[in-house]
Amino acid sequence: MTVTSVVGLQWGDEAKGKIVDILTDSHQIVVRYQGGNNAGHTVKFDGQTYKLSLLPTGILRPGVKAVIGNGLVVNPEALLKEIKSLTDRGVPISGENLMVSDRAHVILPYHIVEDAVYEKRRGAEAIGTTGRGIGTCYRDKALRSHAVRIGDLYHPESFRSRLTDIVAAKNLMLKALDPEFVALDADAIFKSYIAYAEQIKPFVTDTTAWLHRAVKSGANLLFEGAQGSLLDVDHGTFPYATSSNSSSAGIHSGSGVTELEIHRMIGVVKAYTTRVGGGPFPTELHDAIGQHIRDVGHEYGTVTGRPRRCGWFDGVATAYGARVCGVDEIAVMLLDVLAQLDEVCICEAYDIRGERTTDFPSHVEDLAVAKPIFRRIPGWKQDITGARKLSDLPSGARRYVDSISELMDLPVKFISIGPDREQSILL
Ligand code: IMP
Repeated sequence: MTVTSVVGLQWGDEAKGKIVDILTDSHQIVVRYQGGNNAGHTVKFDGQTYKLSLLPTGILRPGVKAVIGNGLVVNPEALLKEIKSLTDRGVPISGENLMVSDRAHVILPYHIVEDAVYEKRRGAEAIGTTGRGIGTCYRDKALRSHAVRIGDLYHPESFRSRLTDIVAAKNLMLKALDPEFVALDADAIFKSYIAYAEQIKPFVTDTTAWLHRAVKSGANLLFEGAQGSLLDVDHGTFPYATSSNSSSAGIHSGSGVTELEIHRMIGVVKAYTTRVGGGPFPTELHDAIGQHIRDVGHEYGTVTGRPRRCGWFDGVATAYGARVCGVDEIAVMLLDVLAQLDEVCICEAYDIRGERTTDFPSHVEDLAVAKPIFRRIPGWKQDITGARKLSDLPSGARRYVDSISELMDLPVKFISIGPDREQSILL
């Protein structure tokens, strides 16, 4: 039995989908443990491009079971749309290959409205959320009184009465926060959610018990992280973070499988850095190089289409992300994107108010004033998308990868030099 975890070490969008897709050859079960339809995974499979948001990447592989664990927040309407978009393209989805935890929390229409209202009120300090009601649903989970779990949808009487109370409270709060808010109708929400519940019923189960049995039977499990460690609500750049434990910290709470079962923790990094939404980003490039990386790397959000902020690889932030996750090995993605640059830079330390440090600051105001201290490496200026082994890479590219490994104090075991499966170097 092998239990593997794939986790992003930056601010998300590290191209984890490609690694998960490759690993599904040797794993029968792929589990998501946190987040919701704020995530975006682009996977090329059988010559086709798929954009997944809530569904685990494993859903694309015949024979693989995909699990949406208890730690997720599920928008049933979005789930049904995503299922339909895949089944329309011939991907079979049934209760045989998709399981949704009855303990997962439900995103309701008011969560999306509240997300927008809170963002608007923050003005220039907006978090830059995906607007999917993720944070407001997690807040209600923690609050409990306003929470609805998937399992509650199958107890219609108590669901109706609780929803009536919740919507009354939400209408009062939202009207006070936003005079333009139009009150929501509890009855209409109830009816549509009961209909969604019926449609998702074949997938809904106690995934925790199911996973415990799978572990006991020796199945190979793969945990698929969404977002990245630096967006983790506890360990990331709070408050410019998502609202779940998007580092490996979320695996146990979000699936019921303990970290003691995990044999291999793969940390995925981009060869540079990107971030969507607000928050400090010490190595951000506001110049033509940043735009070049954005264009060559197609750095536009899978979910929202927003241009991603781009910058140099940040060895301080990423090494911190790896420590938080307990990573064993690194996968370096999108190295090909840097191929045409005259010079590439890697941040090896920060200068914070005149002091050199390799510690990642806990407060965003300290991170905001951190000046990156760069290691400069001459560019290799050649196409590397045809490389299949380390020795095919030009010496500059190898030096670059070695520097990442050295700064993170971890071995690089995988290099991606293009979107296709074959465009990979295994070390
Ligand atoms: P939320 O998760 O929608 O609340 O957004 C909070 C922060 O996380 C924002 O900066 C988002 O841009 C960011 N975020 C959420 N999901 C992703 C993702 O899949 N990739 C990158 N950033 C994300």
